[in-house]
Amino acid sequence: MSETINPQAKDLEFRPPDDFVKNANINDSDVYKKANEDFEAFWEEQAEEIEWFEKWNNVLEWEPPHAKWFVGGKLNASYNCLDANVRKNGDKIAIIWEGENGEIRKYTYKELLVETSRFANVLKELGVKKGDIVTIYLPMIPEIVIAMLACARIGAPHSVVFAAFSGESLCTRISDAESDLVITCDGYYRRGKIVEQKKKVDCGLDSCSAVQKVVVVKHLDNDINMRAGRDIWWHDLMEASGPVCEPEAMNSEDMLFLMYTSGTTGKPKGIVHTTGGYMVGTHITAKWIFDLKDDDIYWCTADCGWITGHSYIVYGPLSNGATIVMYEGAPDYPEKDRFWDIVEKHKATILYTAPTAIRSFMKWGDTWPAKHDLSTLRLLGSVGEPINPGAWIWYHENIGKGRCPIVDTWWQTETGMVLISPLPGITTSKPGSATLPFPGIKAAVLDDNGNEMPPGEDGLLAITRPWPSMVRTIHGNEKRFIETYWEKWDKNTYFAGDGAKLDDDGYFHISGRVDDVIQVAGHRIGTAEVESILVSYPSVAEAGVVGKSDEIKGEVIYAYVILKSGISGDDKLKKELIEHVSSNIGPFARPKRIIFSDELPKTRSGKIMRRVLKAIANGKDTGDVTTLQDPEVVDELKKKTLEEE
Ligand code: PRX
Repeated sequence: MSETINPQAKDLEFRPPDDFVKNANINDSDVYKKANEDFEAFWEEQAEEIEWFEKWNNVLEWEPPHAKWFVGGKLNASYNCLDANVRKNGDKIAIIWEGENGEIRKYTYKELLVETSRFANVLKELGVKKGDIVTIYLPMIPEIVIAMLACARIGAPHSVVFAAFSGESLCTRISDAESDLVITCDGYYRRGKIVEQKKKVDCGLDSCSAVQKVVVVKHLDNDINMRAGRDIWWHDLMEASGPVCEPEAMNSEDMLFLMYTSGTTGKPKGIVHTTGGYMVGTHITAKWIFDLKDDDIYWCTADCGWITGHSYIVYGPLSNGATIVMYEGAPDYPEKDRFWDIVEKHKATILYTAPTAIRSFMKWGDTWPAKHDLSTLRLLGSVGEPINPGAWIWYHENIGKGRCPIVDTWWQTETGMVLISPLPGITTSKPGSATLPFPGIKAAVLDDNGNEMPPGEDGLLAITRPWPSMVRTIHGNEKRFIETYWEKWDKNTYFAGDGAKLDDDGYFHISGRVDDVIQVAGHRIGTAEVESILVSYPSVAEAGVVGKSDEIKGEVIYAYVILKSGISGDDKLKKELIEHVSSNIGPFARPKRIIFSDELPKTRSGKIMRRVLKAIANGKDTGDVTTLQDPEVVDELKKKTLEEE
């Protein structure tokens, strides 16, 4: 992405407006100092903000790299999101849901509690016990929130699989989690077309025999097969179920959910989050970073199938008693102003979205937002990828009308909560910088040997102190947990996998992944995952997959493919391969380009050098290639890449 804007330029700094500061939930910068002096005391104070059935004995037990937070405390996440708010005002709207076809449904906190309790009873009836992992494979409909909270209510960790994943990807995750219950729906709309979700489940489950029951929400009423003895309608179960279910008192360190994410191997990692620390972390970050107030209408456009949806659609905002907007469909359906129509219609006050979406809006032009009254907005957020200064400024001017602070929030599936972000009532922000670590969080930019990088120099992002909502382990793979995050430097220092640099004010500028993970339109995809799907195609011998920077999506996938001998690559085969990836992982993982080649850049021991491939795809200098098996392959690949553009 070419940017001529210098994000460090002082005239581009944005100070929060005085009236925002005056009313902000947090506006005293002493909070940073205080939290830094005694971070455990800081987190203990924040833990008082949520409700516990029993208080903890110890704030933190840190045996690097294993942390236990609020040890001995007992609580329930659904109780914090529902019962606690019903007690304050049960008639307050919790969810405003809008379907892609324009249908609107609203749930008060009282109604959400009843629906959740009913479904919690359904789960119990189906034999789900505390500790059993339940897989949820639903699109953005209210039932996804109800299902998540119902699991939390009875202490059954949920594993939500993003609805656009293929049946095969679903099956991989079900098997790894050893889940025997899946919650899904018949179908849903995407750009006016029906996605046949239940069909995908049926295909996926062909190779997942352990699944005993499939609960199916009737959402579209499209034609589906219900397998006798396995598949049951959600509404039939709900009708027969009682509206009261006592929340299970969970230990602070009991697992709340599993969330699969991509890493550097072909196998997704089941990130384990526990209850107490996660609830404290998401509650307080939602309250301070989004400045949630009683009358806010908060809209996070993420999907509940990713961590952003977990932390900042469900647990963070609902535990704060917020009114949230949920939207089922695409931002450009039926027209390119759908988001602005939703903001205007529901009078949204806070909007949290992704740089990819912002860049698409920029491309579509200023006239789409200009048609709508966006004056209710008072705060904007960004997440998922680095936001380039140009997109930041466009967002600030065209959506925030120059008034709204922007919070560029850096975090990950593994961190559970935002770790680096402005506090909108305190921080002077700069386009393109996530600014400063949240109070109590300590981060650094290090070199390979763990030395701190001076301002202005590129290094690696590290988190140097435990935080409450940190990943506890990788489900069933403790070794990978340690190797991935805690062996780059030492066991006290978390390796985030992102490149970063500090500026002269100590602000963090995060440049994106430095490992073999790519962020395509904010979707995290492992290059190895795509490679393993490509080589599963009969005519493919080898594949090397890299991210190529893209003006809209941040990154797109370039796949370099060696075919088996005797097979020649043509456009038809390219299409087949793209389709193969799409149907095996999901449409969001479609390679943008397939480039056939006779060889790939490899080390003498035969390992594909993705660093070199990435430079080739991005038209950058490949650096020293003399250690390659066949250095000539570089020019050949450069030529082929150019031919494809
Ligand atoms: O590369 C960083 C990027 O998203 C990665 C984490 O992806 P995931 O676990 O899917 O979670 C995304 C939503 C929290 C990070 O390693 N990323 C996320 N937010 C930002 C970001 N990169 C730069 N700036 C951000 N604000």
